[in-house]
Amino acid sequence: MMLDLQTGYARQPLAFHDLSPDQGDFRQALIDGLSGRHKAIPCRFLYDARGSALFEKICRLPEYYPTRTELGILRAIAPEVAERLGPGVQMIELGGVSSLKARILLDALEEPSAYIPVDISRDHLRASAEALHAEKPGLSVLAVCADYTQPFELPSAPGGGPRMGFFPGSTIGNLRPDEAIAFLASWAERLGPGSAMIVGVDLRKDPAILEPAYDDAQGVTAAFTKNLLVRANRELGADFDVDAFAHRARYDVPAGRIEIHLESLADQTVRIGKAAFRFAKGERVHIEDSCKYSIDGFKALARAAGFRPTAHWTDPAQLFSVHYLETAAG
Ligand code: AVJ
Repeated sequence: MMLDLQTGYARQPLAFHDLSPDQGDFRQALIDGLSGRHKAIPCRFLYDARGSALFEKICRLPEYYPTRTELGILRAIAPEVAERLGPGVQMIELGGVSSLKARILLDALEEPSAYIPVDISRDHLRASAEALHAEKPGLSVLAVCADYTQPFELPSAPGGGPRMGFFPGSTIGNLRPDEAIAFLASWAERLGPGSAMIVGVDLRKDPAILEPAYDDAQGVTAAFTKNLLVRANRELGADFDVDAFAHRARYDVPAGRIEIHLESLADQTVRIGKAAFRFAKGERVHIEDSCKYSIDGFKALARAAGFRPTAHWTDPAQLFSVHYLETAAG
């Protein structure tokens, strides 16, 4: 279905392609995840309206360096990126709901032909696509409501032009390295020959910096994790005692991975409808992994996915990196 939201004053169209992504069933995922020997809840359920608002708060925390560091890198490199890409680029943003980062690159690019944000969250996507379109009426904005981890077809931009995928935020860290390779390989194929992909990747570093970034003093990240339980109580009528669970974030140094769990602070039973789940005191529910890379480690991963890593940039403190990957020549 294609809904034309053209507002009249615009020179270029705003289009909304709704591919009706399957958000997954929270009840079923929760019951499945709590039924095994190792309890887990998939992290994609963190982002309901309250969870998304808490995540935005995380991005402004003093301890959470990735957002502001990546923004600084993007501001510094935008002219060089624009020069590498040349004119008429179609920018495809994976997860395009906070278009601030995309805007930095779009402002620097020479007459970009289209901005194609792809996101599973329909309302956020619509709002940010409309805001960007109102600001840049000369740019065609083709929003695609889809799960960017699943196969789907990219809309063809009216002006054509070289394709540039943009995947900021170190969101790639939520995937295990083998999953990240498969994911990047699918994007190399979808973008096609002669394309580029810009990926934000958080770097390995001292646990003394990493652990507070995922367990801040104000408890915002704890509230973000526990929001899964709040959501289950509200949406599914579960009876989680939210205060009987603690947020834990630990950096596994050899694996290069932050692991986030909820730990049961007591022996307890939780009901979700007719199902009952026992938690032993000290038992942990796995919530989220956030994988970190070295520069060379991420380049090797990109190569394994079929990209050529041709440039990377970091901040002076080497906290975060932005990688420029290319597919084979067109
Ligand atoms: C959205 C996956 C990039 O791993 O840093 C932040 C998610 N979780 N604090 C990250 C997150 C807790 C974030 N990503």
